[in-house]
Amino acid sequence: MALERTFSILKPDATRRNLTGAVNALIEKAGLRIVAQKRIQMTRAQAETFYAVHKERPFFGELVEFMTSGPVVVQVLEAENAIAKYREVMGATNPANAAPGTIRKEFAESVGENTAHGSDAAETAAIEIAQFFSGNEIVG
Ligand code: RTP
Ligand code: MG
Repeated sequence: MALERTFSILKPDATRRNLTGAVNALIEKAGLRIVAQKRIQMTRAQAETFYAVHKERPFFGELVEFMTSGPVVVQVLEAENAIAKYREVMGATNPANAAPGTIRKEFAESVGENTAHGSDAAETAAIEIAQFFSGNEIVG
């Protein structure tokens, strides 16, 4: 199988608690390679565009508020089967349901403040990577 790329965000609860290295250690231990990474302050417009698929959901306002509440680390991760693999490493959206050893089980505080984002499909991964990285910022 060919190498695949997925898009990751270490969310503001991770930067606030100085956990980005600890999360990256789990990412790398799982065999995902961090081929691009930068720390940014997301604007409201960027967060609204990024989560546009959720704009009718009751938690949308809260989600945009949270994602702009502090710095985030945006990343491109590469591996065979990277999209599914990273979702496995993150664990369930709600940390209460996440398996032991996963990022959300180990670190997340709540279903809203759940430490990491990972793309859910090849098409969304491509769109999300393009929203935050230009080609020459990704070095595999
Ligand atoms: P993500 O997109 O961040 O990787 O997370 P996901 O696929 O596991 O979950 P999704 O359904 O796409 O939800 C996106 C993010 O919205 C927040 N959320 N809050 N308060 C709530 O009930 C609620 N539900 C979802 C979480 O931050 C979730 O990761
Ligand atoms: Mg999602």
